[in-house]
Amino acid sequence: MKKLLFALTLIAVGSLTASAQWGRPIDYSAGPGLKDAYKDYFTIGVAVNKANVSDPAQMEIIKKQFNSVTAENAWKPGEIHPKEGVWNFGLADSIANFCRENGIKMRGHCLCWHSQFADWMFTDKKGKPVKKEVFYERLRDHIHTVVNRYKDVVYAWDVVNEAMADDGRPFEFVDGKLVKASPYRQSRHFKLCGDEFIAKAFEFAREADPTGVLIYNDYSCVDNGKRERIYEMVKKMKEAGVPIDGIGMQGHYNIYFPDEEQLEKAINRFKEIVKIIHITELDLRTNTETGGQLMFSRGEAKPQAGYIGTLQEDQYARLFKIFRKHADVIKNVTFWNLSDKDSWLGANNHPLPFDENFKAKRSLQIIRDFDAAADKRVPKDDWVPNPMNQPGQEYPQVNSEGFARFRVEAPDAKSVIVSLGLGGRGGTVLRKNKEGVWVGTTEGPMDPGFHYYHLTIDGGVVNDPGTHNYFGSCRWESGIEIPAPDQDFYAWRKDIPHGNIQQVNFWSESTGKMQTANVYLPDGYGKLVKGKNGKLTQERYPVLYLQHGWGENETSWPVQGKAGIIMDNLIADGKIKPFIVVMAYGLTNDFKFGTIGKFTAEEFEKLLIDELIPVIDKQFLTKPDKWNRAMAGLSMGGMETKLITLRRPEVFGYWGLLSGGTYMPEEIKDPKCVKYIFVGCGDKENPDGINKSVEALKAAGFNAEGLVSEGTAHEFLTWRRCLEKMAQSLFK
Ligand code: XIL
Repeated sequence: MKKLLFALTLIAVGSLTASAQWGRPIDYSAGPGLKDAYKDYFTIGVAVNKANVSDPAQMEIIKKQFNSVTAENAWKPGEIHPKEGVWNFGLADSIANFCRENGIKMRGHCLCWHSQFADWMFTDKKGKPVKKEVFYERLRDHIHTVVNRYKDVVYAWDVVNEAMADDGRPFEFVDGKLVKASPYRQSRHFKLCGDEFIAKAFEFAREADPTGVLIYNDYSCVDNGKRERIYEMVKKMKEAGVPIDGIGMQGHYNIYFPDEEQLEKAINRFKEIVKIIHITELDLRTNTETGGQLMFSRGEAKPQAGYIGTLQEDQYARLFKIFRKHADVIKNVTFWNLSDKDSWLGANNHPLPFDENFKAKRSLQIIRDFDAAADKRVPKDDWVPNPMNQPGQEYPQVNSEGFARFRVEAPDAKSVIVSLGLGGRGGTVLRKNKEGVWVGTTEGPMDPGFHYYHLTIDGGVVNDPGTHNYFGSCRWESGIEIPAPDQDFYAWRKDIPHGNIQQVNFWSESTGKMQTANVYLPDGYGKLVKGKNGKLTQERYPVLYLQHGWGENETSWPVQGKAGIIMDNLIADGKIKPFIVVMAYGLTNDFKFGTIGKFTAEEFEKLLIDELIPVIDKQFLTKPDKWNRAMAGLSMGGMETKLITLRRPEVFGYWGLLSGGTYMPEEIKDPKCVKYIFVGCGDKENPDGINKSVEALKAAGFNAEGLVSEGTAHEFLTWRRCLEKMAQSLFK
């Protein structure tokens, strides 16, 4: 029963994982470490603080996930060398020793920076400014001391940090005068030395470490202006023989920016002048801020809206896909901090793959478990409008491989997410194109068949105006149909007779309401035929009572289930003798997730047996006995079927559960009370359960049959296939 309940929850949760639904935690760190997943691409680093390298649990995370470490603050000039002749090696050493002991290589951050700098280098004992020669002497001594102390464990140095000016400042005040903005940051270093200090710092570093990788590191490298300023500076320096080996792109990004194009522009531009790029300080803010300056107010972590998490996961996935694509030049990707708790941006920004309790987030899994083949895959260009689109609507579209692509107009939105996407990704995040329209394609082929979906626009859930609405999740949702290899069995055929579906409304005393059922009547229903005695008479038919799942209703089987079409086709092909199918509302929408354990189907049993069946037997030409009556249902409708058929075996002679659990022989009191049992589900559900049930039932002498639907999960193609198979064995 537990498994059944579990399966039932999956029906309408869409992008939610089962864990999110039931609060069962998933360990996203289970599996290889990031460093192992990326061993053919680049090293994976993390910036660490004191606690990270002293707390055993945190140390374990570092050892498992990372093969590069940066000291977050401990090696910065102002920290390690706060006064002339005063050195704070304590924490710096402990980080280095942790790395030495564990065979982890380090990035040395940073030797020369305007911030957290050893500002004493600029003044003499009396506080007067020194000449640049004095400054250089001090800087050289500083660089030599740090590099010599740690170069055994360091493979790359951020020699100069953040020397270039930001975008958006065409003019600036220099010494009280408004002047055209310089490409360089107006730091004390620059004011004293011009850009010569950059060259000097690199030269000193090269003297001290002839083999280490020397990096110029900066933020906002993806901004058009800053990218070009960095490019020009590094190019000029390199041409002058300054030993710059690579560029560090800090990677303080957010969930909206940069897009792939902007990121690639920077990587490609820098590739022209360096062979090594490090992504040195990656974190993704959940607001629109970016860059190396801190604007966000730190604070206690407040829970983050689900869609924000999806945007962040998607952004991490996109960025890493681009990093992998450029692994010829990207040699390291370093997260700036271990967990949200450590983040310089504040836990409230939730910027990292580990949360404030050091639990891995789904982001970690998404970054790690990438599909190298999918990186290169380009969907086939044979797009057609989804068959379920509203009249005249071009989008959504599907291709022959099962990809789906979407187009949504929402000019002022900040984010648009389609709930449909590959497993565990929380949907497909759309991006605004040049025309300002939101577009996007599923990451890979979807399961064939019908899928419910919706849009989440800035956190608000709406339907896609491109496509029709289908009742699921207790509401009318958008739907899309992915072509299936066997789609002919539920396709309209022009050359065959068609039955029809009638709506029956009836008063239900037990619920005190009008209730509705849709009734499929086969072609020929009601026509006069010659009876056994030669007299003209109207044929009578067996009846299948076919139930929908949680959050669905009486329209679900006839519309997205295509029950009528499936019946027409089976009858036309002579695979079944015509029968009636009654698809009634099964009272399942009143049950909230979480209360399903208390579900007994007693109300529906009353409605079905005392009210609906008499109405059907009165209004239609039925054969009103148990051996001409079947009950089957999908998901929660399967649960109802099981409960009701076992309690009331005198009413139904044929039973079917479609992704709705299984029967076991010991549950059935009288083996003669049922002529046929069907159980089925998708191969992505619980096929073992189905196979075991069929085996056990057969061994106990029951006439049982199962179907495991290929390539499908808890969705309507599974159930269409189940109906098609089950129908052929009913009433025999
Ligand atoms: C940050 C640290 O994370 C903070 O703890 C500190 O207060 C300020 O500096 N660019 C860099 C990093 O190169 O050194 C900065 O680190 C973040 C921006």
